[in-house]
Amino acid sequence: MTHSFQVTHSIWQSVSPLSFDPLGVNTSADVCIIGAGITGLTNAYLLAKAGKSVVIIDKDPLGHGETALTSAHLSSVLDERYHEIITRQGLDRARLALESQIKAIDQIETIIQAEGIECDFERIEGYLTLAPPHDIRELETELRALKKIGLRGARILDQMPRSAGTWGPCLVLPRQAQFHPLKYLKGLTDAVTRLGGQIYTQTAAKEVHGGPHAHVMTDRDRKIGCEAIVVATHVPINDRFVIHTKQAAYRSYAIGVRVLRDTIAKRLIWDTADPYHYVRLHSDPQKNYDTLIVGGQDHRTGQEPHPTNTSPSPFHQLQKWVQEKFQIEAAVQDHWSGQIIEPHDGLAYIGRNPGDFDNVWIATGYSGNGLTYGTIAAMMFRDRFLGKANAWETLYDPRRKNWNHLTTFLGENLNTALQYKDWIYAGDLESSDSLSPGQGGLITKGLGKVAVYRDEHGVLHEYSPVCPHLGGIVRWNVTEKTFDCPCHGSRFNSSGEVVNGPSVHGLKPLGEAEIPVCPHGIHCSPSINGL
Ligand code: FES
Repeated sequence: MTHSFQVTHSIWQSVSPLSFDPLGVNTSADVCIIGAGITGLTNAYLLAKAGKSVVIIDKDPLGHGETALTSAHLSSVLDERYHEIITRQGLDRARLALESQIKAIDQIETIIQAEGIECDFERIEGYLTLAPPHDIRELETELRALKKIGLRGARILDQMPRSAGTWGPCLVLPRQAQFHPLKYLKGLTDAVTRLGGQIYTQTAAKEVHGGPHAHVMTDRDRKIGCEAIVVATHVPINDRFVIHTKQAAYRSYAIGVRVLRDTIAKRLIWDTADPYHYVRLHSDPQKNYDTLIVGGQDHRTGQEPHPTNTSPSPFHQLQKWVQEKFQIEAAVQDHWSGQIIEPHDGLAYIGRNPGDFDNVWIATGYSGNGLTYGTIAAMMFRDRFLGKANAWETLYDPRRKNWNHLTTFLGENLNTALQYKDWIYAGDLESSDSLSPGQGGLITKGLGKVAVYRDEHGVLHEYSPVCPHLGGIVRWNVTEKTFDCPCHGSRFNSSGEVVNGPSVHGLKPLGEAEIPVCPHGIHCSPSINGL
C-alpha cells in the first residue's frame, strides 16, 4: 500500500505519464536499455533510426523519474566552471566537454525538427550572474576560458537587460535553450514505437549479464537476450560499489511562481553562489500567465541542514530569494525536488561499466546537466554499437582516475564513511507517540533503531532503518516525507519503497526484519558483515 502524503509535484507532471504493458514473454533485440528517461529513450531512438532493434524497460511509467524533475535548462554551462576544468584536466578535455554539450543541444533540436515534436523548444541566451563574495573577475576568468576553448559570442554586460530586479554584471552565453521535458519524451516515445522499438513499463531489471551471451532478467523472470546492455537508471543498478565512490548524491529544490505574462524576459540564469540558484521562465500556451521556475538550496541527500518540522523548508528559502531578487510577490504554485549526482571531477561517467564486460554500458554523474548528458550518452552508445569512433569516449570513461581531484574524492568519501556513525547514535525521536499523521523519524528500541511513519489514518508503520544498498542508516526527510540514506543517496517513500537508487530493494518492514544492532560498534567501512 502506498500512503497518500505525496508532497511534491513538478510543473511538467501535468502531462500524464505513459504506461506500456509489462514484458510478459522472453524477447530479444540488438540492444537492451534499462531505464526510459531521456538517456534511454534518446538512445533507443538513435539506434532505431540506425536500423538496430531495441528493447527498453522501466520499472515505472515513462517520465516518472528524474527527467520529470529537472528545471529543463538545455545549457552548455557545467556545474564545474570551464576555467577549473582547464586548470585540472587540460585544454583539450575542456574543449571536448564544451563541444559535447553544444552538440547535445543541437541533437535535441534536430530530433525535434525531424519528428515534429511540439515541446516548447526555444533557443535563448544564458546569463551567469554574480553572488557575494564573487566579483567581476570570476566572470572575466570564465570568459577568457570559454574563448580559449572555442566558444564564440560570449560577452560580459554591466547589467542584465530588460530584467526585473537588480542583478549587476553578468556573463552572457549564446544559443542555450529550454523545452518541456515530458512533451519531448512523449515525442521520442512515439518515434521509437513507430520505428519498431519494444517498450515495456512496470518491468524492472533483476539481473544484468554481459559477455558473449548477454541478457537481462526481469522481476517477472523474463529474459531479454541482446548484444549490448545500456543501464540508464540515473545511478547504475548493476554497480554496487565502485562508481558510488566516484560520485555523490545531492537533493536540489525548485519552485514555480506565477507571474504576469511577458513581464519577465525568457532566459536561463545561474548565479555564482554555492549552492547556486538557477532560473528560467516557462510559458504554457494554454495559460494566460507565465511561470518563473527557480531552483537551488542543494545539499547532500540525507544531510538536510535544517531537518525539523518547524524550520523554514528549502522551498520557503527559494521563495524568499525570488522576492528579494525579482522584487515581486512570489506566490508558489508548484514545488518539487530532484536528485543530482555529482561526479568528483566535474564530468559525467559514460561508457563501459568498470570491472564488467565491454558490452555493458552505464551513464551517470550528470550533475545539473542531465538533459544534455543523457543526449551525449545516447550519441556515444549509438556510435559504440555501430563501431564508430567517438571523440568523447576517453573524456567520459567511467574507469578514469583523476588525481587532480583527489581532495574532492577524499572529502566526499570521508563524508560517506562518517555517515555510518548513525549506527551508534540514538534515534531522532524519543518515541513514536508524539508523531502526527504524515510524520516519520527514527526511534531507539532496545539496542537498535527503527524507522517509523504514521500514516494519514494514524496507523504506525515500522521498518528496518538499514539501507539495503550497503548498510547505511536512513534519516527522515521532513520536507519530502521520505527516508533518505546519507551514504550514497538511496531514498525510500513512507511505504518503504525505493524512490531513488542505488538500492534496488525497499526498506524491510519490521517483523520481516529484526531490529538492527550495529555488529561492530563504530566503523567507517561500507563492507559490513552480519546485517
Ligand atoms: Fe549506499 Fe545507502 S545508498 S548505503
